[in-house]
Amino acid sequence: MQSRLAWDFERFKAGLPPDVPAHVRDLYRVDLTGSYAGRRTRVPFGKASGQLSMTAAEVEADAAAGLGFVVLKTVIGEDPSGRRAMAPWAVRESAMKVERIVSRAGRGGWTVTWHGRGWDRSLDEYLALYRDALAVGERAGMPVAASIKCHLPPVGEPIREEEYEHTLRRLAAVAGEGMIVEKDFSPTLAGDERSASRETVLRWIAEVPTLMKRQAPLTAGVKLMNALHGDDFQVEMLRAAATSGADFLVLFNRLFDPARGVAYGGWDLSDRNLRVLDAYRSAAAHPPRPSDPYVIRASRLPPGQVFTATGNICSGRVMVEYARRGATSGALHTFFQLPLSEYPAAAGSRSARALHALLFEPDSGLIAWMLSLGEAGLLEPRDGLLHFLDIAHGAARPPA
Ligand SMILES: Cc1cc2nc3c(=O)[nH]c(=O)nc-3n(C[C@H](O)[C@H](O)[C@H](O)COP(=O)(O)O)c2cc1C
Repeated sequence: MQSRLAWDFERFKAGLPPDVPAHVRDLYRVDLTGSYAGRRTRVPFGKASGQLSMTAAEVEADAAAGLGFVVLKTVIGEDPSGRRAMAPWAVRESAMKVERIVSRAGRGGWTVTWHGRGWDRSLDEYLALYRDALAVGERAGMPVAASIKCHLPPVGEPIREEEYEHTLRRLAAVAGEGMIVEKDFSPTLAGDERSASRETVLRWIAEVPTLMKRQAPLTAGVKLMNALHGDDFQVEMLRAAATSGADFLVLFNRLFDPARGVAYGGWDLSDRNLRVLDAYRSAAAHPPRPSDPYVIRASRLPPGQVFTATGNICSGRVMVEYARRGATSGALHTFFQLPLSEYPAAAGSRSARALHALLFEPDSGLIAWMLSLGEAGLLEPRDGLLHFLDIAHGAARPPA
């Protein structure tokens, strides 16, 4: 299998086959199906909300490459008079810098430095993009989600529900049934005064999903940020999100550097995310006792909670690490933005080149990692196939 994988890796540098999941199923007996917002996806890798999902042409290229799903850039919500409480997030800023970054543990990776925030055009322009993107997704069998940022007040102030109502109803008028919307609690909020209060952040997370669901029929996702508090608070946010009525979670958006005023990623991001997910899950597995440290008591969660991971997914191996902690898919941004020379493939869109590496790389690709989990007896085949989703659903045993 390994030499076959090495051969596929080499020959697919010129372009992926038209039906990658079928090829992988037939040849390797591996089922790549993932799940995002409760919908099945062709592969577990999708495009995260951001600067790479701002045009229908980008969504078209993602569909053609075979990505699992696409989340559009975050739009800043408005009320019927066009007033936007989160207007400071609608910053026009185009220059992005893709940079190498070394983590605290000394591992070299990549980050994107950018001073912008949300969608900087009108809601009407966003709705036009959403309409086109949904049509592309429909043709390709690829879920497409919208992403919003609406009013998040400081403690003691009511949430301006009319912003959620107006924005979500206009999105619903485009999407019809089956609308998927992520609520973005972005890392830039970490640099905002109001998120210094833990109580404020926990209230947003607890109240916003049900408020969203009151406005229109939708599948509501909560995308949690990395706050500027410790791991214990990260676990507490996760607990609040898991019991908030949200239909799915996206965990966790980038780290924030207050000194530079920018969000960042790389291995520090995935190290932190995986550490917090471990704390959450181990706490969920054991009933709390009064003598337990705060972090354990804070994380009484429904075990088996599934989610979409985000943060430094730069290989199949990292995807498997998140899946072992319950992720049914991964939302990527940075890996779709590397200099072309960093991808092993010599042809195709960035999304296609990225997918080639994520799946077929003989050492760190998803196929290689699923086969080795199978060989080690850590992932049992079902119906003759190793299923990616079985990793998240707990069928994969943790390595000794
Ligand atoms: C330039 C840039 C812009 C982003 N904009 C958004 C956004 O508008 N909404 C959002 O939810 N996440 C946004 N993100 C976060 C990404 O969706 C993703 O969750 C995060 O970058 C972690 O994934 P990565 O390590 O693969 O980049 C942005 C990220 C980058 C790098």
